[in-house]
Parts: sequence; structure tokens; C-alpha cells
Amino acid sequence: MSLLKIGVIPGDGVGPEVTEVGLKVLEKVAARDGLAYELTHFDLGGERFLKTGEVLPAGEQDRLRGCDVILLGAVGHPGVPPGVLEKGVLLKLRFDFHQYINLRPVRLFPGAPCPVTGKGPEQIDMVVVRENNEDLYVGAGGFTYKGTPEEVAIQTSMNTRAGVERCIRYAFEAARRRGEKGAFAGLSDADRARGYTRQVTLVAKTNVLTFAHDLWQRAFNEVAADYPDVKPSYMHVDACCMRMVTNPEWFDVIVTTNMFGDIITDLGAVLQGGMGLAASGNLNPDKTAPSMFEPVHGSAPDIAGKGIANPLAAVLSVAMMLDHVGASASGDRVRQAVAAVLAAGSPRTPDLGGKATTREVGDAVLAALG
Ligand code: NAD
Ligand code: IPM
Ligand code: MN
Repeated sequence: MSLLKIGVIPGDGVGPEVTEVGLKVLEKVAARDGLAYELTHFDLGGERFLKTGEVLPAGEQDRLRGCDVILLGAVGHPGVPPGVLEKGVLLKLRFDFHQYINLRPVRLFPGAPCPVTGKGPEQIDMVVVRENNEDLYVGAGGFTYKGTPEEVAIQTSMNTRAGVERCIRYAFEAARRRGEKGAFAGLSDADRARGYTRQVTLVAKTNVLTFAHDLWQRAFNEVAADYPDVKPSYMHVDACCMRMVTNPEWFDVIVTTNMFGDIITDLGAVLQGGMGLAASGNLNPDKTAPSMFEPVHGSAPDIAGKGIANPLAAVLSVAMMLDHVGASASGDRVRQAVAAVLAAGSPRTPDLGGKATTREVGDAVLAALG
């Protein structure tokens, strides 16, 4: 493989702490598997904004565009008004680079703590395909009479037929790619007799959002017709939250809107052991611009600077990046190393009930890589 150009945005809070570990893991697996890469670091985030007023200068965005992939820690700073960095860096890159899929696997590794009694790795293994370029996130809206008693604030959810359809189609393809999934209770014997081997569940709110989610439902029905081996199902988002806790084994692939996907994947993170374990990829499946890999969690200001953030979400995001660039054997190796550390029971950062530091957990992953 030719030289892989990786842009790195460590960002704010625990972002740099967990990214450092992710990069060490990358270094080791790349050396082992003969993967050549070059890193370019980008100093973006709260400290820079406070010093210079800059959020994402155009020249730097151009240089990011020139990378093959991007690895991001987190952005968000207690001293910066909410939204400045989140919209100015993270969402801007997701939108401008057409990363229209946010892929968020929810998989409980053996040994990782699950807060739901009676549910284990056999029950918790699903993938959330979150639409990543539309909905309430487009920033459409505004104020009138701001700051007065008559104030009006409007924020509009934008859903395009093309944007929704490409996301749903990705979800059906992702379902097919999942291969033989373990225990999966979403299919009855009758379903299997009909030839269904997977399931995609549309999670929306068609009973209230009768315009936007009507479009989603119709697009979903049409795309589903192209995948006779995949069972299409539907669940309202509120019921989905309940079901993810009571019957996580029921889910295979979920496809959902940007806003709902944000919310249910924090719930999904908890099912798989917490924010410290949830990885994600912002994908541009057409590869017209770089895709970006990051933990689901944020900058965690409450634990930043203490060296105790769990680095495994960042490490698993590196694994997703390796998958994306066609090095899934290396990605698997990284996941196996994480699995080995979790199965061993220690070291663990405090979020998993341990006393270890970020670096100690990172070193254990490096050791497990052999
Ligand atoms: P958060 O994910 O940063 O933190 C939520 C809770 O999870 C906190 O108690 C935190 O300590 C814990 N946590 C998060 N990551 C952890 C890790 N690696 N190890 C151990 N514990 C971890 O969410 P928040 O507090 O709502 O947001 C903080 C800031 O991060 C905000 O500015 C927000 O906008 C931003 N944010 C950024 C991203 C991103 O860059 N992708 C994602 C979410 C939130
Ligand atoms: C996430 C985050 C972001 C989102 C924020 C920080 C803009 O919560 O990646 O889940 O809402 O998508
Ligand atoms: Mn979120």
C-alpha cells in the first residue's frame, strides 16, 4: 500500500490524551503489518481559539482535505461558548467533507462491564448507521426579537430524499456485510424461512414528524425492496431507547437520523461499557474527501488533564480507520488486543472500575499486540 496520509486533530480536554495512545497503537500495528503512513498534526480546538480567535482556518481545512483520513480526539472547551468548536470544527468537517455516514458499532467485549443485568456480549452486538449531514444539524433557523419576551427561535430539520436514501442504502449494505452474526433474536423462524438473514431497523418518529419521517419511511420501504434477504423493521425512537435496554439482542443494524443517532449512541455506549469504549467513523463512502474517525465521547472536561481517560474508544476508532483504508486485518488485530486487555480484567481506567492511567491501559494494549 502507498503512503497513507493521516491528519490528526487531538483537540481539547481528554482528546490529546486518548489520541496519543491511539497513535502509539497505530505505530505498532503498522510496523508489524508493513503499513506506511505519515502524520500531520493540526492544532485546532479551544486553546487556539482563545489565543487567536481562529476556529478552522481555510488553509488548514485545505490541508486536511489533502489527507487520506483524519483521526480526531474531541473538541469542546469549558471556556468557549457551546457550539463554536463543535460546529466550527467537527460539524464543518463532517459536512464539508461529505462524511454522510456516522458509523457507530455497539458491541460489548467479554469482560467489559454492562449495566444491564443478564445481558452480555451475545446480546449486545449491533451497528448504528447515523445520518451525518442533515436534520437539525444543518444549522437552519434563527431568532427574531432575540432577548425580548416576544423572542422566537426556530431550528429546522432538513431531510433530503437523496441524503436519506444514500444513508438507508448504506445501512442495508452494512447489514449484508456483517456476515454471520452470533445470537440475534430479531428474526423469528418464520422470518428465516422467508429468507431473511439480517435486519435493518429504521428508528424515527413517524407518529409525530409526519413530514420528515414520512419521507424516511417511504425511502426506507423502497430501498428495502432491493434487499430481499434483509428484514426491514421500524421502531419509534422512544421505544427504541427502551428496547435497547430491555432487549438489545433484538437489534442488528439501526438506521436513523442525525439527532436521534446522536442520542441513542450514547445509550449504546453505555451498553458496551461506557463512553470510554465507543468508537465511530464519519464516513465519506464515495471517498471524494477524507473520512474521519473519533471516539463517540467528548472532551470530558471533568477528568481532563488527570491522565485517567479511557483510551480504548480512541484505539477502537483507529481500528475502524484501518478497516476503512483496506487494512482490516490490522484493524482486527487492534480489536483483538483491546479484547484481550478487557478480558484480563486489568489494567482498567476508573470509568471501568480500575485505578490505571490512560498510558497504562495503552501500554497493555501495546503488549497485547505482541
Ligand atoms: P463527554 O463525552 O465529554 O463526557 C460525558 C461523561 O463521560 C463525563 O462524565 C466524562 O468524564 C465521561 N467520559 C467521556 N469520555 C471518557 C473517557 N474516554 N474515559 C472515561 N470517561 C469518559 O460529554 P459532555 O460532558 O456532554 O461534553 C463535554 C464537551 O465535549 C462539550 O463541549 C461537548 O460539546 C463536547 N463533545 C465533543 C464531541 C466530539 O468532539 N466528538 C463529542 C461529544 C461531546
Ligand atoms: C457526537 C457529538 C457531536 C454530535 C457534537 C459535539 C456536535 O455529540 O459526535 O456524538 O452531536 O454529533
Ligand atoms: Mn454525541
